[in-house]
Amino acid sequence: MKKLLKTPSQIVTVDTKGKNYKRGKETSDVFPLYEHSIVLENNVIRDIIPNSSIDSTSYDQVINCDGMVVLPGLIECHTHTAFAGSRSNEFLMRLNGATYEQIAESGGGIISTVKAVRQSSFEELIKLIKPRIDLFISQGITTLEIKSGYGLSYYDEIKLLQVINYFKKTLPIEIIPTFLGAHTYPPEYKNDHKKYLKIISDELLPFIFNNGLAEFIDAFCEKGAFSSEEVDQIFTKAKKLGYKLRLHTEQFNNIGGLDIALKHKALSVDHLEVINESDIQKLNGSDTVAVLLPGVSFFLDYQYAPVRKLIDNNVIVALSTDFNPGSSNIPNLHLIMSLALLKMGMTAEEAISGVTINAAKAVDINKKTGSIEIGKQADFAIFNANDYSEIFYNIGQNLNVMTIKNGEIIYKRNLEL
Ligand code: NIG
Ligand code: FE
Repeated sequence: MKKLLKTPSQIVTVDTKGKNYKRGKETSDVFPLYEHSIVLENNVIRDIIPNSSIDSTSYDQVINCDGMVVLPGLIECHTHTAFAGSRSNEFLMRLNGATYEQIAESGGGIISTVKAVRQSSFEELIKLIKPRIDLFISQGITTLEIKSGYGLSYYDEIKLLQVINYFKKTLPIEIIPTFLGAHTYPPEYKNDHKKYLKIISDELLPFIFNNGLAEFIDAFCEKGAFSSEEVDQIFTKAKKLGYKLRLHTEQFNNIGGLDIALKHKALSVDHLEVINESDIQKLNGSDTVAVLLPGVSFFLDYQYAPVRKLIDNNVIVALSTDFNPGSSNIPNLHLIMSLALLKMGMTAEEAISGVTINAAKAVDINKKTGSIEIGKQADFAIFNANDYSEIFYNIGQNLNVMTIKNGEIIYKRNLEL
């Protein structure tokens, strides 16, 4: 099956010259191409040809991209999409002066979502979550990471991972399930950390891995959640089992999470709003991706991660929504891209690298997707625009009109009235 993405106004290749990530100055090189079309064969990018050499008769399918910008399929590498309930009350409490941490200490926060998830059946969760995934697909997202972490018991963590895996099996988008049992301590083990750590290490970690429910594990290293010693313990066990590791760290306090993540060669360290100078130096040249989440800073109205310093220090930077009900109720990656420019001082090109190839690296799929290079999976986001700057500028509007995964159109918006 040979297909042609015909005559787009611009192809943003994010070419990595085979390196499959971008750091430092390279983060800005997205290598736009003009007057070219893309040949797909067997769901793979076969060639990028000048428009002058097109022979339209030699394709099984021609997809007209006139007046469109083609990007690699976007990678949403950090979400908590699998939740129930609402925390709108906490949103208003914060506007009246309560902080996110105070709300969590008083039994709200993550725990209020845990209560809602525990009360929801598998079927109810499926109904709630499906439209959220559809919304991501409509934005040109072709890979979506989803964490558990709102069950916090043996039964409920597995239930959430089964829901996420149901979508992985039934939807055309690639879903990456991540086990986040170490999100916070559930009320029943608030005063018995040892017991909960034992449930994670001895029961959940082996069951989830052996049943193929997740190959990634994440944890939240923060005051009031897991200490760096506790994360170290969990990561040591997880690594032995074969998991790939990621860590929420340096969100509100520096309590040593970054060192533990680097010690275990985690794929990513996520948040980093309060990362200090010496920790930035430790990430210099590292393979561990810094996943930045400007939606959290916007939603909680506090400081943004120091992205300029990170890029200047050769850190691999990715961007994500962190979509969750408490700190970033923002399931909109395009808005996050605009915030990265307006609030963090990234360039448009850096933000594009952050939601494509570098995000792919954070979930270890950067060798097969995340850029438009010959031999890679045919994953694309196609925008109704002449230039990629429009995607950032048209804040709050979805310019994506077609999402292509493995060479198949999985979302298409009719532009004709
Ligand atoms: O990434 N930091 C920890 N976890 C989520 C928030 C979870 C919640 O508030 O429900 C985050 O910000
Ligand atoms: Fe998160």
